Amino acid sequence: MSRSKTHTTRIAPSRWIVRFANRISRSGTVLDLACGGGRHGRIFLAKGHPTTFLDRDCSGVEDLSGDSLAEVISADLESHDSWPLADRRFNCVVVTNYLWRPILPRIISSIAAGGHLLYETFAEGNEAFGRPRRPDFILRSGELLDAVRGHLDVIAYEQCVLQKPSPRIVQHIAARRP
Ligand SMILES: C[S@@+](CC[C@H](N)C(=O)[O-])C[C@H]1O[C@@H](n2cnc3c(N)ncnc32)[C@H](O)[C@@H]1O
Repeated sequence: MSRSKTHTTRIAPSRWIVRFANRISRSGTVLDLACGGGRHGRIFLAKGHPTTFLDRDCSGVEDLSGDSLAEVISADLESHDSWPLADRRFNCVVVTNYLWRPILPRIISSIAAGGHLLYETFAEGNEAFGRPRRPDFILRSGELLDAVRGHLDVIAYEQCVLQKPSPRIVQHIAARRP
């Protein structure tokens, strides 16, 4: 099946993710966690990376089911059962616009030696702009830095206002396991 975008992913990819996408080793494995339409995983898939798309609702990536480099996993990341990826390690884990604080350590431990974490989601202050407003879904100041400390080396980190596709406050990080 073609890797072209047959599912409508209306939002452009995050510039942060695009900025660091070329750092991933050739043919390195990628996990797009809480992938939605898979707008970021698709970038890596198009570059030949074996890419795993995980979401509780995989309808946004069902067009990828025949792609030999794509793996689609339907799983609930917030159930109190086991982490759905067991001990698997990836060369890159991408998370955007999703936060479930209890699994942050699992996300970090799923990054292989030399692998990268590319994470961008809403941060405190976003409440003034719109959803999400629930503290459970919003990063505290410096929280991504705190999460990777002692595990990953920080390449870049920022908390800032993004204007597109709509004004919001995000925190983003690019970090690498030594
Ligand atoms: C705002 S969307 C972001 C999608 C994608 N990461 C992006 O930035 O385009 C949040 C995604 O998280 C998924 N999600 C929410 N709760 C989840 C859960 N408990 N387990 C797995 N996925 C979940 C939703 O289905 C949705 O696709």
